Amino acid sequence: MTERTAILFDGDPGVDDAFALALAARHLDIVGLTTVFGNASVAHTTRNALAVAGHLNLTCPVVSGADTPIEAPNAQMLEHARTIHGEDGMGGADLQTDRLPDGDDAPAFIVDTLRGSGATLVATGPLTNVARALQLDPTLADGLDISLMGGSATNGNVTAVAEFNIHADPEAAAYVFASGANLTVAPLDITSTFGLGEAEIARLEAGNTLARELSAAARFYRGRQLERFGRGYAPIHDVCAIVPLIRPALITFETMHVAVECAGTQTRGMTVCDRRSPVVAEPSNATLGMQADGTAIVELLMEALL
Ligand code: RIB
Ligand code: CA
Repeated sequence: MTERTAILFDGDPGVDDAFALALAARHLDIVGLTTVFGNASVAHTTRNALAVAGHLNLTCPVVSGADTPIEAPNAQMLEHARTIHGEDGMGGADLQTDRLPDGDDAPAFIVDTLRGSGATLVATGPLTNVARALQLDPTLADGLDISLMGGSATNGNVTAVAEFNIHADPEAAAYVFASGANLTVAPLDITSTFGLGEAEIARLEAGNTLARELSAAARFYRGRQLERFGRGYAPIHDVCAIVPLIRPALITFETMHVAVECAGTQTRGMTVCDRRSPVVAEPSNATLGMQADGTAIVELLMEALL
């Protein structure tokens, strides 16, 4: 039996974060789970993480982290999140837990857990905890593999050019992209092109308690996607941060230089992707998924939940 890759999962559950966690639990060894604000307050994302971890029988520590970005929070982010994921971040799914977090200093936990472990860091929310961990221990980035969902080489979702996770904390994202860590990125260019339709949601409804509750969350989330973006499916953005660790052949990657705009009035939170000829482009610092087999990725997730 092949050894399962060890990961530390940092996210803002969040409907699609919950799906990513379920896929990770089926294929990977989750050594730690840290939470950050984003789709909801960190109180909500932590409670959601504890509840999903309970249904997945995860025994790893769950540690809460940042409730605000490095710079000032922005109302646009909070409005966008509540619209898409609901007030509690899980579209009203009824996932109960009486478990409490094992701590509230995610950056220190990330440093202590990852240092010398060889584990991969998976990030599916704003990068505040990740940036603070890299600031806490600047040597952490040496040889560290990070697989994250965020950014876009084309259109944004929160604004014309900015994707939610980057836009929520551009300073943190800029620090991570400049850190020297080995970055594998799932941008909107692939994550927004497929998702769960009515057929998949109906299949989940017939599953176990977690599948059933996540189907309710997916139905809510899909409805908000239709209202906001005219999209008839629930994109499983964060699942695409897990796929490179378990089925990399399902994604076509391109290495390039990515910088994060922090100052632009219209462009704050934009990932500026340099896809020019290598003769003139900035040296690459990230590997981005630019095409994906969405049908196969959805089926991989279904297999993990049913
Ligand atoms: O833009 C998509 C990202 O923002 C996903 O991580 C989703 O969970 C939200 O956090
Ligand atoms: Ca997320």
